[in-house]
Amino acid sequence: MVKICCVGAGYVGGPTMAVIALKCPAVEVVVVDISVARITAWNSEQLPIYEPGLDDVVKQCRGRNLFFSTDIEKHIARADIIFVSVNTPTKTRGLGAGKAADLTYWENAARMIADVAKADKIVVEKSTVPVKTAEAIEKILIHNSRGVNFQILSNPEFLAEGTAIKDLFNPDRVLIGGRETPEGKKAVQALKQVYANWVPEDRIITTNLWSAELSKLAANAFLAQRISSVNAISALCEATGADVAEVAYAIGKDTRVGPRFLSASVGFGGSCFQKDILNLVYICECHGLPEVANYWKDVIKINDYQKSRFVNRVVSSMFNTVSEKKIAVLGFAFKKDTGDTRETPAIDVCKGLLGDKAKVCIYDPQVTEEQIQRDLALNKFDWDHPVHLQPMSATEVKPVAVTRDAYEATKGAHGVCILTEWDEFKKLDYVRIYESMQKPAFMFDGRNVVDPQKMREIGFIVYSIGKPLDSWLVDRPAVV
Ligand code: NAI
Repeated sequence: MVKICCVGAGYVGGPTMAVIALKCPAVEVVVVDISVARITAWNSEQLPIYEPGLDDVVKQCRGRNLFFSTDIEKHIARADIIFVSVNTPTKTRGLGAGKAADLTYWENAARMIADVAKADKIVVEKSTVPVKTAEAIEKILIHNSRGVNFQILSNPEFLAEGTAIKDLFNPDRVLIGGRETPEGKKAVQALKQVYANWVPEDRIITTNLWSAELSKLAANAFLAQRISSVNAISALCEATGADVAEVAYAIGKDTRVGPRFLSASVGFGGSCFQKDILNLVYICECHGLPEVANYWKDVIKINDYQKSRFVNRVVSSMFNTVSEKKIAVLGFAFKKDTGDTRETPAIDVCKGLLGDKAKVCIYDPQVTEEQIQRDLALNKFDWDHPVHLQPMSATEVKPVAVTRDAYEATKGAHGVCILTEWDEFKKLDYVRIYESMQKPAFMFDGRNVVDPQKMREIGFIVYSIGKPLDSWLVDRPAVV
């Protein structure tokens, strides 16, 4: 029986290993983590992450060929293939601060593998890492190996949160990079065989190590760039009276462009896009390519611009101040169908509103009050560390209220901001919401969830990203 150990039981390690266990009954999979709380949750009825379909998959194989453990050394020692799916935060200090990846957790994992390995192992990079990380990891492993042979593979993960299980069951592609030596090729084949249990062969791409590492960063940069492109156009739509949904539809009909990933919004979030682009920017700078670095940097600039543009719209529409006004925030997760709040645009929007002294009241079907308080208290980039090691800034509890119901959040509010495209927000009784609010009642739709025309008929003053503006908003400054 092939034995797999995955170091890191997070959003990537947990779901990917659960699906491998489900699809490969002849493989034993153990997911290990330094966080006792995370492992306890994986072994409980309340999994540590929300992902449609995940519960089912875990229930089918946990205790059969899928195990979660904190006994890292034991399971690394027993494994033939070790996936490493630990945090790779952006550095906050020293060389490359604010851009480069901090590989501390990766290095710790590699040293631990070298320490406990007594037989040959395949070590697989599952975390997103800078190009040439495999070379560094190889050095750590080989110099500490005591005769054990290691093969390093790069197998970046392309799942999207919210559809992770669907993506893992039916991936567009699986990418495996390895050394072009006989041993390297053998290791690539061994990993390929695992995926071949359910992924058609023509979707398993094999490349050299550096292509695989770079493809992940480049893929995320392309996806984020697409969002920033449509968001940039959304600002122009508001200025000209065009409708971004119509423009995006027309653009997407071109088969060279395609229709997906063209929805304008308050901005992209999630743990990967910004971090991976910063990483790419840093690598370009290190290779003397400032023009390329600046090109990608602007993708992030547009994203920041979009978030501050949204806050400015809210404040300027509401007579230039939201001080002491109740603003209901519907949705805090960075997108629907996940409870993940890492780099969610809601953090910057809420901070912007709080900066103008608004009374913010938040409802999200999957995000707890504790998580929201933590997100608003953390310094930039500090979220990307194991939870028990996150350096909390010494800030007081933020003056935000969190409700378990959209109607409670909006009751008595002066304005509503929709920041996540949860399906349930499409079906709310907006007449009831309007009647319970202060007048004039404002609706700021950062995800184009509601029909602005219907909202106007109810009585709201409406701002929807990239849509023709209410006459009231036309003369208000979009950028302060
Ligand atoms: P996460 O923060 O949810 O999970 C990482 C886990 O690793 C944590 O539970 C942490 O306690 C554990 N850990 C850290 N150091 C460890 C060590 N030395 N030994 C054992 N456990 C250790 O992070 P997530 O989202 O799963 O991301 C992991 C990697 O995958 C990152 O490099 C990320 O950029 C990448 N990635 C993330 C995707 C996503 O959608 N979240 C998609 C594709 C790649």
